[in-house]
Amino acid sequence: MDWQKNLVRYRRDLHRIPELGFEEHKTHDYLWARLQEMGLSPRAATNTGITADIEGTGPGQVIAVRADMDGLPLTEETGLEFASQHAGVMHACGHDAHMAIALGLAERLLGNRHAFKRVRLLFQPAEERLPGGAIGLIEAGALDGVDEVYGLHVWANLPVGLVGLKAGPMMANADQFRIDIRGSGGHGSQPQATKDAVLIAAQTVVNLQTIVSRRIRPLDPAVVTCGTIHAGHTFNIIAETAEVTGTVRTFSADTQTQIANEISRIAERTANLYDASAEVHYEKGYPAVVNHEREVALWEEKLRGFVQFADIDPDMGSEDFAYYLQHKPGAFLFLGAAQDDGESPPHHSPHFLVNERVLPLGVEVLYRAITEIP
Ligand code: NI
Repeated sequence: MDWQKNLVRYRRDLHRIPELGFEEHKTHDYLWARLQEMGLSPRAATNTGITADIEGTGPGQVIAVRADMDGLPLTEETGLEFASQHAGVMHACGHDAHMAIALGLAERLLGNRHAFKRVRLLFQPAEERLPGGAIGLIEAGALDGVDEVYGLHVWANLPVGLVGLKAGPMMANADQFRIDIRGSGGHGSQPQATKDAVLIAAQTVVNLQTIVSRRIRPLDPAVVTCGTIHAGHTFNIIAETAEVTGTVRTFSADTQTQIANEISRIAERTANLYDASAEVHYEKGYPAVVNHEREVALWEEKLRGFVQFADIDPDMGSEDFAYYLQHKPGAFLFLGAAQDDGESPPHHSPHFLVNERVLPLGVEVLYRAITEIP
């Protein structure tokens, strides 16, 4: 079929030119040219974003389909012949596949105009980079006149042909925090004259691990991870200050607020215990991706028999697709994209690989979700 023939080329072309969030200029130009070749009229949205309407002649809803555009700050180590040509940047999450699938979907729809009313493609910058590109696209009116919004992510943890889909929370609230600890430094041989920031940082990290284990309801999923500790200059000096940073993942707003409060309380009191002080900076990131019940039920019905549904848990990762679902009904699914031998390097790894068999499947999944198929 015609719409299948360009998919691999699109994906590989885009894979060669990965760009960081809000800097996707070559990617923008590439997509723009392909959309124009198809006879569509792309419109520049916020930053490097593009929207393009595909007019059908059939009944139904106006559906927006989102594809994210950015790569990651990694040096590719796949050895692929179409590996990144941009030093230090790589499509290591599969967003190149998302864009190729969206282009293929456009071609598939253009050959079947009777089957839908209108589809708006949203090519969104900066999914990997806060504040994310979704907010800007929405503020620029990308969802105006749209009834529903659909999205997908290729998923290396699932085999090709399997789809992960869940009503309700699907991906997590992802926040970050920084704790600035201030003690007083001095000679390593005279601890009595100091307030050791290294010791306080260590105690703080240990105490923060009691939030999930002792303060949060056991059936309510949550993560508190301390990713960095920075303190001290050399072995025989007691550090005056320390900085601890970390991330918090939750699904409910109540738990999110509770954990933010607990981090402040524990960090401040731990520091006070040693006569020092701590200041907590807590910053909310992407909200949870919450799929709408009706759209999930509809997709399950339309896709049954064509793909298999994996029994998945909600993922503690995050996605700024969440913002679209705060404005419009819709859903987001994980599309199995593991290597055929099952040996799939993880997302965000310099060895990350997309199984290209997922490209026509992704087009077909979206096409079936959009169009009326009995
Ligand atoms: Ni991603």
